[in-house]
Amino acid sequence: MSTVLTVTADSPETAQADALVVGYHSSDSGPVPAPGAENVDAAFPGGLASVLTQLGAKGTAQEVHTVPSMGAVSASVVVAVGLGPASDAPEPESVARAVGAAVRGLREKGSGGTVVVAVPAHTSRLVEFVATGALLGGYDFLRYRTNSDAGAGQLEEVRLVSSAEGAADAAERGRVLAESVSLARDLVNTAPVDLTPEDLALAANEVAREHGLGIEILDEQRLIEGGYGGITAVGMGSSNPPRLVRLSYEHPEASRTVALVGKGITFDSGGLSLKPSTAMEWMKSDMGGAAAVLATLRATALLRPAVNVVGYLAIAENMPSGTAQRPSDVLRVYGGTTVEVLNTDAEGRLVMADALVRAQEDSPDIVVDVATLTGAQLVALGTRVFGVMSNDAELRGSVVSAADTAGEDAWPMPLPAELRKGLDSSVADIANVPGERWGGMLVAGLFLQEFVADGVPWAHLDIAGPAFNQGSPHGYTPKGGTGAATRTLVGLIEAQAAQQN
Ligand code: BES
Ligand code: MN
Ligand code: ZN
Repeated sequence: MSTVLTVTADSPETAQADALVVGYHSSDSGPVPAPGAENVDAAFPGGLASVLTQLGAKGTAQEVHTVPSMGAVSASVVVAVGLGPASDAPEPESVARAVGAAVRGLREKGSGGTVVVAVPAHTSRLVEFVATGALLGGYDFLRYRTNSDAGAGQLEEVRLVSSAEGAADAAERGRVLAESVSLARDLVNTAPVDLTPEDLALAANEVAREHGLGIEILDEQRLIEGGYGGITAVGMGSSNPPRLVRLSYEHPEASRTVALVGKGITFDSGGLSLKPSTAMEWMKSDMGGAAAVLATLRATALLRPAVNVVGYLAIAENMPSGTAQRPSDVLRVYGGTTVEVLNTDAEGRLVMADALVRAQEDSPDIVVDVATLTGAQLVALGTRVFGVMSNDAELRGSVVSAADTAGEDAWPMPLPAELRKGLDSSVADIANVPGERWGGMLVAGLFLQEFVADGVPWAHLDIAGPAFNQGSPHGYTPKGGTGAATRTLVGLIEAQAAQQN
């Protein structure tokens, strides 16, 4: 994404632009201009609010109305977006989602160009969120479009109206976050034929080179030699061999280390425990965890918090073939634990086990993994809220509050000890699936916990639903890849930096 983002204190009504986005609050007497929109409202004969009322506008959250300016202001069109009831302290994430919906509407109509955004932005946090919301709302994925005007109406410039102290820095931070989230979206949206394990490792290499991150890539040969039995077993059914990537960010004043681990299944067919075809349709998103980890490392390299971060991407393609692993095979995870594979579609936990064990060799203060791990996550929490499990109540709380601060939706989930016995195997140390199907998200969490040493604070984020939007676009979220968990992980890393002693 190459949208130019600037901050201006100039009056929005005289700004030359393709579109001007303003906010309206809902009230008993209809829509009323939000802070920043007053002069634009007054520039219309009788006030823009009365025009909006005639159009049926109410000012409810994310309601979008586009009105031709007819010369009342310099921009060609005014986009009025609802912000809900007025409040003394507007919620930054609500404003971000509203602005995202407005910009996305312009983009969908092929009328992006230069967009001036004049919504409540009197604090640096509002500025950051408005910047992120506008840029993410303008996101598009054109790689496979051959129609020559598919790119017409791309978002070229966002000019954010604010005179808040520190507005430029806040907007810059919003841009870093939006561009990092967009990187994760691009990777998820890329067709799996164009994003094999090797391709994903190369994409990580590209990011590392551009942003000065350390990188180490283990290819299949080195994974076999190193004893990474989970990743190699899952990968051996595919003609595209697996990879394990280790990214690292270091800060000279850091006293803490955060380890991140992401699930990078570039396509999940289920393997010999083949999925039904409709369930396979969106399994290109099964590397959404790895994409979030890579995006987080990118943002970290640019924001430079005083903490060390290592990020592991556990990458394989899960395919059925004559060389695929079989249900009832036994593999040996890095570190020696044996696993009986009763269902080859529970492959994520196998690649994650290797990477979790390896990540602990970096002596991290906390380990956080992120994975599109279970369909049960969608049953429990729906498509937009990810589950947070942990062996440490404090860390679980920190992750949920990092999500809250970052504007993402997360919810704490338990790891009930009694469910562990369902994973007892008759031949190996542990089985990869239980006999009983209840609590599938929690059982998967308990499986992963098995590979975390006592005393190491660890959290597990199941983003199966939130990583990919199969439904209609909403707010700044398009169809397809979402970049879920990226902003939460960045926030968590910054909170760890603040906590250093
Ligand atoms: N990648 C899937 C989980 C998934 C499902 C992600 C739907 C996104 C949307 C995972 O590898 C999987 O297949 N899990 C199985 C586990 C089961 C066999 C215990 C599942 O959830 O059905
Ligand atoms: Mn699977
Ligand atoms: Zn999977």
